Amino acid sequence: MEVCEAIYARRSVRKFLDRPVERETLRELCRLAAAAPSAVNRCPWEFIAVTDGVVMDQLRACMNYGKYNAPAAIVVCGNMHRALEGTARMYWVQDASAAMENILLGAIGLGLGSVWLGCYPMEHQVQVVSDLLSLPEHIIPLGIAYIGYPAEQPAPRTQLEACQLHFEGYTPAGQEEPA
Ligand SMILES: Cc1cc2nc3c(=O)[nH]c(=O)nc-3n(C[C@H](O)[C@H](O)[C@H](O)COP(=O)(O)O)c2cc1C
Repeated sequence: MEVCEAIYARRSVRKFLDRPVERETLRELCRLAAAAPSAVNRCPWEFIAVTDGVVMDQLRACMNYGKYNAPAAIVVCGNMHRALEGTARMYWVQDASAAMENILLGAIGLGLGSVWLGCYPMEHQVQVVSDLLSLPEHIIPLGIAYIGYPAEQPAPRTQLEACQLHFEGYTPAGQEEPA
């Protein structure tokens, strides 16, 4: 699939077939994730792939908005030992988010469906996921990609509104060009 087509086709999938996802497939998704850009090339990410049904059930139990029947997940984390220092430290969130988006787009390319479940900066979500996966303190879960073969296919789309597109500077509402 062509890249632009895949970007439009990436939609959140919340219903999955009862079909496992191979570890090798999850490994490939993590390779795609780690091909993302990263500030000062620190690559401050870690990936925890989950396929075990019991752990998936535990993840479902602790994700308030993640009760979906995905057979697998990749927890995308930031490693604070690799993150930049000072103000630039928070770039880890952007690095890990870019990695997460690569997973979601890679899933499309591999015929899989996915949905991003947020953890960081919701303290409770960070805590319960960290406890469940025994994460050391310097590993912070940014979010979880549920992965599986899709049982639904939301239509491709963009959500760009005309008022969100500006050329050469900010255009006040009502003066924008069509998106
Ligand atoms: C940071 C972040 C956190 C999200 N958390 C959840 C979540 O907890 N549960 C969920 O079902 N979807 C979650 N989503 C998916 C959004 O609901 C979804 O991307 C949005 O509704 C747009 O739909 P689309 O992904 O089909 O384009 C999250 C997305 C992002 C970027």
